Amino acid sequence: MADKHPATRPANPRFSSGPCAKIPTFELEKLADAALGRSHRAAIGKDKLKAAIEGTREILGIPADYRIGIVPASDTGAVEMAMWSMLGARKATMVAWESFGAGWVTDVVKQLKIDAEVKEAGYGEIVDFADVDFDTDVVFTWNGTTSGVRVPNGDAIPADRAGLTICDATSAAFAQDLPWDKLDVVTFSWQKVMGGEAAHGMLILSPRAVERLESYTPAWPMPKIFRMTKGGKLNEGIFKGETINTPSMLAVEDYLVALDWGRSVGGLKGLMKRADTNAKVIWDFCDEHDWIENLAVDPATRSNTSVCLKFTDDRIKDGAAFAKAVAKKLEAYNAAYDIGAYRDAPAGLRIWCGATVEDSDLQKLTLWLKWAFEACLEEQSEAA
Ligand SMILES: Cc1ncc(COP(=O)(O)O)c(C=O)c1O
Repeated sequence: MADKHPATRPANPRFSSGPCAKIPTFELEKLADAALGRSHRAAIGKDKLKAAIEGTREILGIPADYRIGIVPASDTGAVEMAMWSMLGARKATMVAWESFGAGWVTDVVKQLKIDAEVKEAGYGEIVDFADVDFDTDVVFTWNGTTSGVRVPNGDAIPADRAGLTICDATSAAFAQDLPWDKLDVVTFSWQKVMGGEAAHGMLILSPRAVERLESYTPAWPMPKIFRMTKGGKLNEGIFKGETINTPSMLAVEDYLVALDWGRSVGGLKGLMKRADTNAKVIWDFCDEHDWIENLAVDPATRSNTSVCLKFTDDRIKDGAAFAKAVAKKLEAYNAAYDIGAYRDAPAGLRIWCGATVEDSDLQKLTLWLKWAFEACLEEQSEAA
C-alpha cells in the first residue's frame, strides 16, 4: 500500500496553524534591510515600526480613528493586556467554543474574578450571538483555531452597544472580513495568515476602548508590559511605534515583507480570496468522500483558515490513534507537516488554508490524504 503513494508531493508541505507557512516568495535575503543592531528608538527603527502599523491599517482597512499598537507576548499578550486593562468596569460576557476562547474564560473568571456570564458551545458548534447581551463587555474569538469554527459576520453586534467587544482575531485577520465598527478591541499575531515571525502582538483599539482606558482604573496592579495609560491618559506613543519594550527588528522586517506580498496579491480582498479558494479545496474533498467531514456543523461557520476535519468511517476502531497515525504518515512522507488536531480538540486533522498556502499544494495534499487514510485502515486490519 505504502508504495502506491501519489507521485507528487505538495511543493510546500507546511500546513501548520501557527507558525503558518511563510509567504510563497519568501527567502532570507528579503530581510536584508532589517535594522539589525540598531535601536528601535532610533529613527530607522521607529520608521519601520510605524510602517508596520500603517501597513496593517492600510491592508486591513482599519478606520483612521482606531489605534494600532505592537505589543509584547504575541496575540496572548495583546488579549491579556486588553482584558486586564479594560474589564471590571461593567459585567462581562465570556463567549467560547474552543480551546483559546476557553482560555480567556479561565483568565477572567478564575484570575481576574470578574462578574461574568459564560456562554460556551462544544467543538464544531458556535454560541448564538443573538443571545449575547452587548451591554456587557463581551470577549470572544473570531476564528476558533482549534475547532475551525468562525463567527460568520458581526450582524448580531449592535452599533449602539454599551459594552466593549474584545475580539481575538489572530487566525481571522487578513483572511476574514472584520466589521471594525462592531469591534472595540481586535488582536492578532504575525505568524498566522501572513506567515510572519512570532513574538509580537497587534492590539487595535476603537475610540470607545480608548475612552474606557482613560476613564477606568482596574482595582488590581498593572504590570509594566500591560500599561497603556500614563496619568489617566492614553500613552499615544505605543500606537506610533514606541513599543513598551524591545521588539525584534528582524521580525518587524519580516512582517513588512509579508505586508508587501499581501499588497502584491491584491490586498485584503486578494488575501481573503486565496484563503477561500484554499479552504474550498478541502471542503470539496470532504463533500466527495463519505469518510471525512468538517468539524464545523453549520457551513456558515466553517473557517477558511484553520480547517478542522474528523474521520467518520465506521471501520475506524480508535479515532484518536487513527487520526494521529494519518498525520504521522503524511509527515513521514514529507507530504504534510503539523496537521494533527490541536491537543485539546476532538481527534482529527487541522489543515491551515490561510493566504500563504497555495491551492495547488492543497490539491496535491488531498491525494495524499486519501492514500494515508486507506493505508492506515489497512494497517489497522493487519494489526487486528
Ligand atoms: C485563537 C487564538 N488565540 C490565541 C492564540 C495564541 O496566540 P499567540 O501564540 O500568538 O499568543 C492562538 C494561537 O494559535 C489562537 O489560535
